[in-house]
Amino acid sequence: MNKRYTIVTHGCQMNEHDSEKISWLLENMGYEWTDYKEESDFIIYNTCLVRENAELRVYGQIGALKSLKRKNPDLIIAICGCMMQREEVRNVILSKYKHVDIIFGTSNIHKLPQLINRYEQTGKTIVDIVEDNREIVEDIEANRKYSFKAFVNITYGCNNFCTYCIVPYTRGRERSREPESILEEIQELAERGYKEITLLGQNVNSYGKTLGYDYSFARLLKEVNKIDGIERIRFMTSHPKDLSDELIEAIAKLDKVCEQLHLPVQSGSNRILKAMNRKYTREDYLLLIEKINKAVPNIAISTDIIVGFPGETEEDFNQTLDLVKKVKYDSAFTFLYSIREGTVAANMKNQVPDEIKHERFQRLLDTLYPIFYNENLKYMDKTVEVLVEEVSKNNENVLTGRTRTGKLIHFEGDKDLIGELVNVKITTVKSFTLEGHII
Ligand code: SAH
Ligand code: SF4
Ligand code: F3S
Repeated sequence: MNKRYTIVTHGCQMNEHDSEKISWLLENMGYEWTDYKEESDFIIYNTCLVRENAELRVYGQIGALKSLKRKNPDLIIAICGCMMQREEVRNVILSKYKHVDIIFGTSNIHKLPQLINRYEQTGKTIVDIVEDNREIVEDIEANRKYSFKAFVNITYGCNNFCTYCIVPYTRGRERSREPESILEEIQELAERGYKEITLLGQNVNSYGKTLGYDYSFARLLKEVNKIDGIERIRFMTSHPKDLSDELIEAIAKLDKVCEQLHLPVQSGSNRILKAMNRKYTREDYLLLIEKINKAVPNIAISTDIIVGFPGETEEDFNQTLDLVKKVKYDSAFTFLYSIREGTVAANMKNQVPDEIKHERFQRLLDTLYPIFYNENLKYMDKTVEVLVEEVSKNNENVLTGRTRTGKLIHFEGDKDLIGELVNVKITTVKSFTLEGHII
């Protein structure tokens, strides 16, 4: 019988896509997927460090594997991802979680088969980390979760050093993949029947800056737009400081680029934006929103917001509430500021007390939810194009899919439609989902 593996993935789309690559490597070694840790021969955690709760969850889960290892000493336990790029975290794992066998980082995933072999030969804990991850390894394929939509990396790392954020320290310096290899990958996906592509990077708008020749993100979009078979192009994340007029025009003109923009604002207060090192003001941001709404009517705009950054006053927070009302977001990821050791903001003296953070967080949600609902109301009685994604978890007769604007839709239909584009008339509107029927 083949050996079996399971992967637990935390964090963002980068990690999700890295896990698809890990899965491909393991299946090439003859491993087979299982949903159950109890029957696994290989368990791997792909970790995130962006907020403390992501980190604490992993410690809890790794601790719980101790009894499995006792029952099955041949079980191999590995940890990779952003947490492993930090020496202090690795030291905690090595000293307190001795049942972990293999540790590696964010830029040496391709070495996993080698690391497993080395572990099997020596039985010794393997630690393999590239501290200064500058290279791009092009040869790993991915065992993608879906057969009709795919993530494609375009940049790795980040140079922005927002003062709250650990990502530049875990993913290294920003580097762009060569346009030829990106386009080749997408071409091949299109030939295999993929319809939707999401271009991934911490800041896709700065794509091309490290290539050594003139090549912009807008130009890359134009090239992807030419590939036959691809119907929808998405991308994330956009940094407001790099959202150029050329790019806004590309979103407006290119038929396959979806009417959707994730544009993290983080705060509505100029004082806080400056302390965060975001390099734009609320006025700059609102002007961008005005331009994009004008160029692409009906575009859905989403964002990330941090509540309780050090020094945030009631007045600063009110500026955030005011901004979200002005922008009228379609959706938002909201976060309580979390101290990340090693970042500039971690050493700021004026940390906001937890109860104030929580209270503001609730007020932010109370402000946002009616806005989301109102934005969704615009879809009532309209017919929208939906890419069918899966059978609903709660009802096997119901399918879920997404509009070009990224709205999640529930509707009745046969599971043979998964991966197809259908037209759905919207009959019910909620804050987070829409319901309708196929026409
Ligand atoms: N590169 C992307 C995503 C980075 S991480 C971007 O720049 O938008 C995703 C989100 O996590 C960030 O946008 C930010 O809102 C949030 N985040 C990052 N560090 C955080 C911290 N220390 N505390 C709370 N939220 C944080
Ligand atoms: Fe973090 Fe800022 Fe880079 Fe995004 S742009 S990954 S928030 S440092
Ligand atoms: Fe987390 Fe790393 Fe992504 S820290 S958010 S998994 S880049």
